[in-house]
Amino acid sequence: MHFETAAIRLQTDRSAQREHSTPIFPTSSFVFDDAEQMRALFADEQEGNIYSRFTNPNCQELEQKIAVLEGVDDAVCTATGMAAVFASIMGLLKSGDHLLATKAIFGATHTVLTQWLPRWGITCDWIETDTAHWQLAVRSNTRMLFVETPSNPGLDIVDLEVAGVFCRYNKLIFNIDNCFATPYLQQPARFGADLITHSATKFIDGQGRVMGGLVAGRADLIAEVKKFCRSTGPSLSPFNAWVLSKSLETLAVRLDRHCDNAQALARFLAEHDQVASVRYPFLDTHPACATAKKQMKRGGGLVTFEIKGGLEQGKRFLDSIQMLSLSANLGDTRSIATHPASTTHAKMTEAARLEAGISNGLIRVSVGLEHIDDIVADISNALEISK
Ligand SMILES: Cc1ncc(COP(=O)(O)O)c(C=O)c1O
Repeated sequence: MHFETAAIRLQTDRSAQREHSTPIFPTSSFVFDDAEQMRALFADEQEGNIYSRFTNPNCQELEQKIAVLEGVDDAVCTATGMAAVFASIMGLLKSGDHLLATKAIFGATHTVLTQWLPRWGITCDWIETDTAHWQLAVRSNTRMLFVETPSNPGLDIVDLEVAGVFCRYNKLIFNIDNCFATPYLQQPARFGADLITHSATKFIDGQGRVMGGLVAGRADLIAEVKKFCRSTGPSLSPFNAWVLSKSLETLAVRLDRHCDNAQALARFLAEHDQVASVRYPFLDTHPACATAKKQMKRGGGLVTFEIKGGLEQGKRFLDSIQMLSLSANLGDTRSIATHPASTTHAKMTEAARLEAGISNGLIRVSVGLEHIDDIVADISNALEISK
């Protein structure tokens, strides 16, 4: 099946009601025919639902679909993207282990790696998105590489092919946050990724309605992550899983429009005299444009730019916006403008932010599905007013 077909046609077995579209299964537990079946299910001798903290038909549909779309063995869904990131690390590493992570990374992931994991004896070193010196950072107890590409919010690109070879050579688990690209634009397993994490809250939902997370990957690794989730309980609700599985049906068409609009906005900003610089993975001026084109189908739905005049003009720009939403989310139908330094990445020190490519004047636009002329008109007007 092609990507678009699998995203639509993979669904839970039809019930006796002969429904066309998968119903929601809002049940905390499932019943057993007899004591023997109950025993066998608990002993993992038979497959089947027991309790919705472990499995639920809506969650399983979403998991099976994302596994096929990512081209991997299996997946597990979680209540949020951060629960997925956390489970992908905690399910596999132990006290004394070390991981490497690229500096350009989502703020909450940075907090987990620097403030929580050390409490359990798991340490982290930061490496550049440029792979040139990675080998120098490997220690005898290094177990995992964690990367995010394109990164939030700087849109830095990690070369997945090089990262795959690096992980194989050093026997590291290759874990990637694929939230910005989604499997429609980038399938990291083709380059050797072992684990792929998602904030499904973003483009997978695509309409700013529900939270959700996913970890997809190699069967043996996902089995461990599932065990961690089964006992610690970051389970996704059946309703949210149902919404997210429905959303995947339209992922390809939505992403194509997000990319059309984002590419057009990036070109407009690149020509604007109030804009100091623009970043978009498929814009020739992006330092890793060739790598992005090697591993991504299209450039994605996010554009960042640096307004001339820095922090003050950045704030005036946001206050002059009329249609775009000022909101913390991304990957919505509605275009959203944010100022990462004062919001999503505010908990990082300024030095750490600068290391991650987040200057004080950086504006991030999650380009939505409105008509491109209306998006450009709003931004153009705000740039004019905030001069
Ligand atoms: C790249 C990336 N990873 C993970 C997350 C966390 O996802 P959630 O908010 O669903 O927990 C986000 C949220 O913005 C993100 O942008």
